[in-house]
Amino acid sequence: METHERIMVVVGTRPEIIKMAPLIKALQKMEIPLTFVHCGQHYDYVMSQRFIEELELPQPDYNYKVKACSQGEQTARIIANMERLLKKTKPSLVLVEGDTNGVLATSIAAAKLGIPVGHVEAGLRSFDLRMPEEHNRRLTDHISTYLFAPTKTAENNLKRESVLGKVYVTGNTVIDAVMQYISKAESKSKIVDTIKFEKFALATVHRAENVDNPTVLRNLMEAFMESPTPIVIPIHPRTKKRLRQNGMDAEVKKSKNLQILPPVGYLDFLMLMKKCEIILTDSGGIQEEATAPQIRKRVLILRSSTERPEAVEAGFAKIVGTDKQNILEAMRETLKGQSKLPVDSPYGNGDSAKRIAEIIESEVCHHHL
Ligand code: UD1
Ligand code: UDP
Repeated sequence: METHERIMVVVGTRPEIIKMAPLIKALQKMEIPLTFVHCGQHYDYVMSQRFIEELELPQPDYNYKVKACSQGEQTARIIANMERLLKKTKPSLVLVEGDTNGVLATSIAAAKLGIPVGHVEAGLRSFDLRMPEEHNRRLTDHISTYLFAPTKTAENNLKRESVLGKVYVTGNTVIDAVMQYISKAESKSKIVDTIKFEKFALATVHRAENVDNPTVLRNLMEAFMESPTPIVIPIHPRTKKRLRQNGMDAEVKKSKNLQILPPVGYLDFLMLMKKCEIILTDSGGIQEEATAPQIRKRVLILRSSTERPEAVEAGFAKIVGTDKQNILEAMRETLKGQSKLPVDSPYGNGDSAKRIAEIIESEVCHHHL
């Protein structure tokens, strides 16, 4: 294939690397030539390069750095970088995943050059415009040529909005990731030996509308410190920064009920999910992973809405908001764990990447081969 017949896969943050990993593998297996690009939104080794190594991905052909800056500037810089790269490499399709600023920026750059965009994890909606992710996913969906919706619910959202691109229901590649890496995690990860508690809840928080609001951040941390079961919390760099800025870091570090970890690698995180009693999170991907048959954990969603209603409907997850008493009450209730969890995930059975790769092959590559 000529360079202009290549598929470009773009990632920028931790969850994009994890969710693109199975798709990169599937495309490689089908011998579809790839250009792999890191747009640089996440830049710390522990949020980025570590996942490329652990998930055994190729090194990116192009690696950018965008300094931490405002939302608008970050988006603008990525648009400018990607526009230059797309003009030079002329891929026949650009694949993006999820709802980050990097995703929107890349899609805008491609659409303006007339290069088709394939959006993996299309059609999610929180209906909450306070979230930057909600702008990013809505706008990206409307300029995408191919939309890979993980579920029927996501497909319905796209149909209701009359998007112009072609919509396919494919499941979510994060389930593929859990299935593909869990046995490596079981044999390689030693994280569980370092956990101080026999039984624990696993918590993560990083959403801007939570941790950038000092009142919400304090509520969440107090809920964790007073929790009926001890909490293990790998801290996102954004949250670490906010704890420090709000003078909460010493107090949180001192709490005997908490074990604070730096961001952990994927294999370690899989083992923490597998071992914990319940999960408390405002993360998107973790809500999905908890439903994988290898994990099957109850999740308390520390937000007032979710763009992943399937996990709630299937009985895995519950929206509990950010009020301390509500969180503690939901924890006590959930730890009793009377109802049985479903066996299957609403996000597919681990073949999403293969399905997406096959669609790409027949829609894009056949025209060129
Ligand atoms: C971003 C995404 C969010 C996604 C999350 C995954 C947007 C709007 N947000 O949020 O949807 O859930 O990634 O983790 O795109 N920082 C570091 N090192 C890093 C990366 C970030 O220190 O490697 C710190 C910096 O202070 C930075 C802040 O975290 O300013 C926020 O980073 P940014 O990428 O803008 O947003 P996230 O909160 O990571
Ligand atoms: N994750 C990880 N290490 C951590 C925390 C999360 O490997 O310390 C993984 C987790 O398994 C999931 C993804 O990172 O696949 C979720 O990323 P994040 O919560 O940052 O973003 P979101 O999914 O909310 O966009």
